[in-house]
Amino acid sequence: MNILRRGRLAVAPGEDIMRFTSSMDADKRIFDADVEVDKAHVVMLKEQGIIKDSVCSSILCGLEKIQKDGISALDTSYEDVHIALEARLIEIVGEDIGGRMHSGRSRNDEVATCIRLTLRMELLGLMGEVNDLIGTLVKVAGKHHETIMPGYTHTQHAQPTTLSHNLLAHTNAFIRDISRIKGAYECTNQNPLGAAAFASTGFPINRERTTELLGFDSAIENSMDAVSTRDFMIESLGCFSNIMANLSRMAEELILWSTSEFGFIELDDQYSSTSSIMPQKKNPDIAELMRAKTGTVHGALMSVLTICKALPYSYNRDLQEATPHLWRAADTVRASVRMASGMVGTMSIRKDAMNKTANIGFMTATELADVLVRTADIPFRTAHHIVGSIAKTGKTPTLAILDELSSEIIHEKLSDRGLSEKAIREALDPVDNVRKREVLGGPAPCETKRQITVMKKKLSRIQKDIGVLYEKREEASGKLEKVCKKYS
Ligand code: ARG
Repeated sequence: MNILRRGRLAVAPGEDIMRFTSSMDADKRIFDADVEVDKAHVVMLKEQGIIKDSVCSSILCGLEKIQKDGISALDTSYEDVHIALEARLIEIVGEDIGGRMHSGRSRNDEVATCIRLTLRMELLGLMGEVNDLIGTLVKVAGKHHETIMPGYTHTQHAQPTTLSHNLLAHTNAFIRDISRIKGAYECTNQNPLGAAAFASTGFPINRERTTELLGFDSAIENSMDAVSTRDFMIESLGCFSNIMANLSRMAEELILWSTSEFGFIELDDQYSSTSSIMPQKKNPDIAELMRAKTGTVHGALMSVLTICKALPYSYNRDLQEATPHLWRAADTVRASVRMASGMVGTMSIRKDAMNKTANIGFMTATELADVLVRTADIPFRTAHHIVGSIAKTGKTPTLAILDELSSEIIHEKLSDRGLSEKAIREALDPVDNVRKREVLGGPAPCETKRQITVMKKKLSRIQKDIGVLYEKREEASGKLEKVCKKYS
């Protein structure tokens, strides 16, 4: 007999209704967390004198068995893992014992706790993976301080830069992603357990103790808030969406760069597919899927936002519908980050093609205008006018042509104001353009080398922070394990 419905409800739902209602499938993700939550709750109940020592010991033994047998041993005719697990416990230890586990709590605080426990591990895993991706980008960037390539605005040739500068741009975006994940982690690592349905409980429970045993930073202050909110999910999904947006931009570059038109890179065979009809094809399918999966993750964020919008307090079953979006998005973003790292780490780079293209499209025009300002002391806007006029003609700038144009525009020859052929020649050299841009953040090799040094320091600091968070988790689960052993 169904332990949940037997009292209040006479008719069992049909198969179609159960399929519509059940969260059993998504609950696979929180099975381990649910056992952990049960253990911490039961330990606390015993310590507070709410259940007897012998009851605690039997429940803990039952939970141990349930954990060993796994979720597949649970009765899937129940609507979620929490009640299926409790039913199994009662089957093992009897209702007089197992029926006491749910004192002072509800599935509402239970599920919120399980999601938070599971999500925080996903966030830690993701942080490590983004860190690895940045490490790969830095490694490749470190080999290409002098690899000149075109930099683009509006996907048009703009100014020369280096591959190192381009790749380091992406690392900076991903570093910000990591700090956002850290923020999401803090918001997630708060304990809702003890809120019960929403109004807490009249049992003298100890929320600080479960907070400690489950390794949360603190207990959520208000019990109604504790069961109602999914803002921690939205915050995480916001991070995931941002990472995917950043990844999709990188994917787009990799796709463009591997076209015949660009020919800047060749992706490794592992990260390529071919055509069933065109035998010559090498397609960047992995990068394309990464670009597409961005939509999946943004969709998950929109779904959860929309599910939570205008939900009256406190718990509503609507919230169950949000959770699978979270897991799908977490899986997608983590896999995408790993793919990106693999792709960047294994691609071959065609320096010659990058170099050659850097000489097309008069990308040195800005530097030439700057040189006019610096040598002939004319306003930048005037120099922009003169150089723009040459660009329109498509002619290669020489001192004679510049003098001719400046005579028309400012009625003066630039050579009379100090411009030389040598200065023009240097201005038109992409390598020289890059070398001169050594201000903070610029593409000059000395500057990208400095940027890498800073980035490496950031990476090792993040690695340390991740290590500390893992240690805290392990410490808490060690504590819980020890006390369970002692009480069982
Ligand atoms: N499966 C539910 C969820 O994910 C668990 C909480 C159920 N609570 C309830 N009052 N029906 O939200």
